[in-house]
Amino acid sequence: MSNTETYQQLKQIIHDRRSVRSFTEQPVDKALIRELIDCARYAPSDTNSQTWEFIAVVGRQAIEAIEAMTWEQLNLRAAAAEAEGLNREARLLLKSFGPYATAFSDAPALIVCLATPYTSKFRDKIFDPIQLAHEDVWREEGIKSSCLASQNLMLAAHALGLATCPMTGPVLLAEQQLKDYLGVEASRQVNMVIALGYPAAVPGKLPRKEVEEILRFVD
Ligand SMILES: Cc1cc2nc3c(=O)[nH]c(=O)nc-3n(C[C@H](O)[C@H](O)[C@H](O)COP(=O)(O)O)c2cc1C
Repeated sequence: MSNTETYQQLKQIIHDRRSVRSFTEQPVDKALIRELIDCARYAPSDTNSQTWEFIAVVGRQAIEAIEAMTWEQLNLRAAAAEAEGLNREARLLLKSFGPYATAFSDAPALIVCLATPYTSKFRDKIFDPIQLAHEDVWREEGIKSSCLASQNLMLAAHALGLATCPMTGPVLLAEQQLKDYLGVEASRQVNMVIALGYPAAVPGKLPRKEVEEILRFVD
């Protein structure tokens, strides 16, 4: 087992990163955000397609607007569920999922992680002519690389003393509203929203499945 200092530091960064939902009021410097995106863009991507873009939302009013549009969609979905007699689900949606989906509300910054369409010479010259895969598969291909870039960003943030929370709650509820508000082109998907700031409270480490439970060797 490697025991080098670099590896131990990296392992500690990976193990100690937490999803933080409570932030101080300290703003995040734009230069630091650029630094995080510099780390994000060195993630691997299919045929180096780099299917990622980021929007850094740093204005308080804009963050409040995103919170409001998420709650608005939540309320609409809860009302629709209630109208179908799904009262318990509607209540849980509001009381449990609502706070989870809007846990970015006191973050000083939101990084909206987009996935751009996957394009490559392989796709143009081989995959599309033989109809290798459906459009949905290519959309997912873009998401995969965007996820890796997002994780780079979160680990880099943690190493810099910042805290993050990756969130799909607002995307599941209000992706279209978010795209309209931020002027995101139709071809882009909102992959996730990352709350970013300085931690006010760091939650404890959540348990993970044991290695033996999730790993199978084939000799
Ligand atoms: C794809 C994805 C979506 C998530 N969405 C939310 C969310 O909407 N709201 C939230 O508070 N946390 C969200 N999280 C954070 C998870 O709750 C968190 O990663 C998990 O509970 C493990 O905790 P840890 O990150 O502190 O180790 C999300 C995480 C991932 C990877």
